[in-house]
Amino acid sequence: MPRNSHQVSPHAILKGREMGLHPNPRTKASNARIRRKRWFIGVVALGTCVVLHTELSQGSPRRKQGPPRRQEGGAALPVPPGQVVQTGPERRSRRWQQRPQPQPPGGPQPPPAQQQQPVLDSYVVLGYNDLGMHCMNADFSQLCILPPFNSLHAQLIRRGIEPEIVEEDENVSVEYRIPNNTTSVNKTNFWQYDQALFGVDLPPDVGLTGNSLAGTMALTGHNDWAATGIPITPIDDGGFLNAYPLATIEAKVQGNTVATTRAVVPVSWEIACNLCHAPGQPGPAVDADILAKHDQAHGTSLLGNGSVLCAACHADPALGAPGLPDVSAMSHAMHSSHASRVEVLQNQGMTNTCYACHPGYETNCQRDVHYAKGIFCTDCHGGMSDVGSPARRPWVDEPKCGDCHSRNEFEFEEPGQLFKDSHGHGNVHCAACHGSPHAITPALTVEDNIQAYEHQGYLGVISKCTVCHTSIPTNEGFEHKR
Ligand code: HEC
Ligand code: HEC
Ligand code: HEC
Ligand code: HEC
Ligand code: HEC
Ligand code: HEC
Ligand code: HEC
Repeated sequence: MPRNSHQVSPHAILKGREMGLHPNPRTKASNARIRRKRWFIGVVALGTCVVLHTELSQGSPRRKQGPPRRQEGGAALPVPPGQVVQTGPERRSRRWQQRPQPQPPGGPQPPPAQQQQPVLDSYVVLGYNDLGMHCMNADFSQLCILPPFNSLHAQLIRRGIEPEIVEEDENVSVEYRIPNNTTSVNKTNFWQYDQALFGVDLPPDVGLTGNSLAGTMALTGHNDWAATGIPITPIDDGGFLNAYPLATIEAKVQGNTVATTRAVVPVSWEIACNLCHAPGQPGPAVDADILAKHDQAHGTSLLGNGSVLCAACHADPALGAPGLPDVSAMSHAMHSSHASRVEVLQNQGMTNTCYACHPGYETNCQRDVHYAKGIFCTDCHGGMSDVGSPARRPWVDEPKCGDCHSRNEFEFEEPGQLFKDSHGHGNVHCAACHGSPHAITPALTVEDNIQAYEHQGYLGVISKCTVCHTSIPTNEGFEHKR
C-alpha cells in the first residue's frame, strides 16, 4: 500500500517514540501539576520503591515510583466455581517478591513478519468497553458495592471513499457473545440476592438491564450500539480466572454476517478490602468486619440484617443511585475516610495504594500505553484526598486526555464530555480507535491489542486509513476532530 503523507505513523508508537507534549499554556500548567504530584509521590514512596531494570525503565525517572508490573492477561489460576477469591496480605507480599518480570508493551505479540493483511470488506465493526475495568463483588450474601454489570459498545461503519456510520436500519443487527464465558449463575451468588438488593427477581444469567452473556446490541443514539449491564464474571467456563474475556461482535445485514471483531469485556472482583478488614480470614468475615465497623462508627445496624446495598444510602452514579440526602456519595465516603488509612500499606512495599481496593494484584485495571511508560493512577487522578474531595463530582470529574496532550490541529474530548462519550474523526468514538480508558493501545495485554492487529495488521491506535476508507483520502489531511 502506498504510504500517504497524511497518514500518521503507528510504528512511531510501537517504537516508543518521544511523543512531545507540546507546550501550550494549559499543558504547561497541568504538566507542572503532574510534576508536583510526582515529587510528592517520590517523597512518600522513598525507600519503599522497587526499581525495575528494564529497557522501559531506563531514562524514565517515573518508572520506579510505580508498582511492580504484573504479568499480562488471562492468568490461569484454577478457581472452583463460586469460590470467593480474596488476596490475603501474606500472599500478596510473598507474591510481591516473586512478581513476574515485566513484559514489553504489548506483551508477547505476533512478530511483525507475520503481519496479516486486514480483510477489506464493505463494512467494519469496532468494539470497545465504556470503562477500562468493571469491578464487582464476588459474594453478595452480606453486601454489594457493585453488581456484575458490564457495558460493551460497537460502532458499525460502511466502508467507502467517505465512510458512513451505520445507525437506524431495520436490516442491520449487531450481535455479541463471549465464547469462553457463557454463564455466570454458578460463579457468583448474585441471583440469590437480586431481590433483596435491587428489588427484582432476574432469571439466571440475566443482568439488571435485561441483557445476558450473549445477545443483540441496541442503538444508543450516540452513533453506536451497546449491550449494557452484561452480568459477566472473571471466571471463564473452564473455571479459570480471566479478567480480560474477549467478546465476539458480529454485524449482520439481513441475517448475513458482514463484519466481525473481538473486544475485551474487562471484569474483576479483586477488591482487596481484606488487606485491612479481617486479614487472613475468608471472604464472609471480611464483609462482616466492614459492616460491623460501619455500625460502630455511624450508628447504623447493617450487620446481620440481610444483604446491604451501599448505594441505598450513598449516592452512586455508577448505578444511577441517588442515595439519601445528607449521606456522602459512595466515592467520597470511601476515598476520604480511607485516605490516611492506606498509608500503612506503603510500609509493606505497596507504592501504589490505589491497588488496596482497585484491581489489583492479579489484575491490571490499568494496562495501557501509559503504564508501559511509567504513568500511574495518581499521575492522572491525584491521590486519595483529591479523589475523595467533596468538590469533585464522582464519575463525572475525571481526567482528560487533553489535560496533558496537545498537538497542532488535534482536538481531544468534546467539551463537557467524558472520553467514553466523545467522538473524534468523522464522528468515530475515541475508544473505537484508541481502546477503552486504562487500556489505551498499544496495551500490555494481548487481548486488548487483538482488535487493532486484526483490523490493520499492527498494534496501537487504528491509524490505517483503509480500515474505513476504500481509498486513502489524498485531498485533505487526517482531521483529529469531530
Ligand atoms: C489500608 C487498610 C484498609 C483497606 C484496604 C480498607 N479499609 Fe476500610 N477501614 C480501615 C480502617 C483502619 C477502618 C477503621 C476501623 C475502626 O474504626 O476500627 C476502616 C473502616 C471502614 C468502614 C467503616 C466506616 C468508616 O470509614 O469509618 C467501612 C464501611 C470500610 N472501612 C469499608 C471498606 C471497604 C468496602 C474496603 C474495600 C473496598 C475497605 N474498607 C478497605 C482500613 C482499610
Ligand atoms: C442505611 C444507610 C447506609 C448504608 C446502607 C450504608 N451506609 Fe455508609 N454511612 C451511612 C451514614 C449515615 C454515614 C455517616 C454520614 C456520612 O458519612 O455521610 C456513613 C458513612 C460511611 C463511611 C465513612 C465516610 C466518612 O467520610 O467518614 C464509609 C466509608 C461508608 N459509610 C461506607 C459504606 C459502605 C461500604 C456501605 C455498604 C457496605 C455503606 N456505607 C452502607 C449510611 C449508610
Ligand atoms: C479503600 C478502598 C479504595 C482505595 C484505596 C481507592 N479506591 Fe477508588 N474506589 C473505591 C470504591 C469502593 C469505588 C466505587 C465507588 C462507587 O461505586 O461509586 C471507587 C471508585 C473510584 C473512582 C470512580 C468514581 C469517581 O469518584 O469518579 C475513581 C476515579 C477512583 N476510585 C480512583 C482511585 C484512585 C486514583 C485511588 C488511589 C489514589 C483509589 N481510587 C483508591 C475504593 C477505593
Ligand atoms: C493516563 C491517565 C490515567 C491513568 C494512569 C489512570 N487513569 Fe483512571 N481514568 C482516566 C480517565 C481519562 C478516566 C475517564 C474516562 C472517561 O472519560 O471515559 C478515568 C476514569 C477512572 C475511573 C472511573 C471509571 C472509568 O473507567 O471511567 C476509575 C475507577 C479510575 N479511573 C481508576 C483508576 C485507577 C485505580 C488507576 C490506576 C490503577 C487509574 N485510574 C489510572 C485516566 C487515567
Ligand atoms: C497525566 C497526563 C496524561 C493524561 C491524562 C493522558 N496522557 Fe497520554 N501520555 C502522557 C505521557 C506523559 C505520555 C508519554 C509520552 C512519552 O513517552 O514521550 C503519554 C503517551 C500516550 C500515548 C503514546 C504516544 C506515543 O507516541 O508514544 C498515547 C496513544 C496516549 N498517551 C493517549 C492518551 C489518551 C487517549 C488519553 C486519554 C484517555 C491520555 N493519553 C491521557 C500523559 C497523559
Ligand atoms: C479514526 C481514529 C481516531 C479517533 C476516532 C480518535 N483518534 Fe486520537 N489519534 C488517532 C491517531 C491516528 C493519532 C496519532 C497517532 C500517532 O501520532 O502515531 C491519535 C492521537 C491521539 C492522542 C495523542 C496525541 C499526541 O500527543 O500525539 C490522543 C491523546 C488522542 N488521540 C485522543 C483522542 C480522543 C480524546 C479522541 C476522541 C475525542 C480521539 N483521540 C479520537 C486516531 C483517532
Ligand atoms: C475508524 C474509521 C476511520 C479511519 C481509520 C479513518 N477514517 Fe477518515 N473518516 C471516517 C468517517 C466515518 C468519516 C466521515 C465521512 C463523512 O463525512 O460522512 C471520515 C472522513 C474523512 C475525511 C473527510 C472526507 C470527506 O470527503 O468529507 C477525510 C479527509 C478523512 N476521513 C481522512 C482520513 C485519513 C487520512 C485517515 C488515515 C490517517 C482516515 N481518514 C482514517 C472514518 C475513518
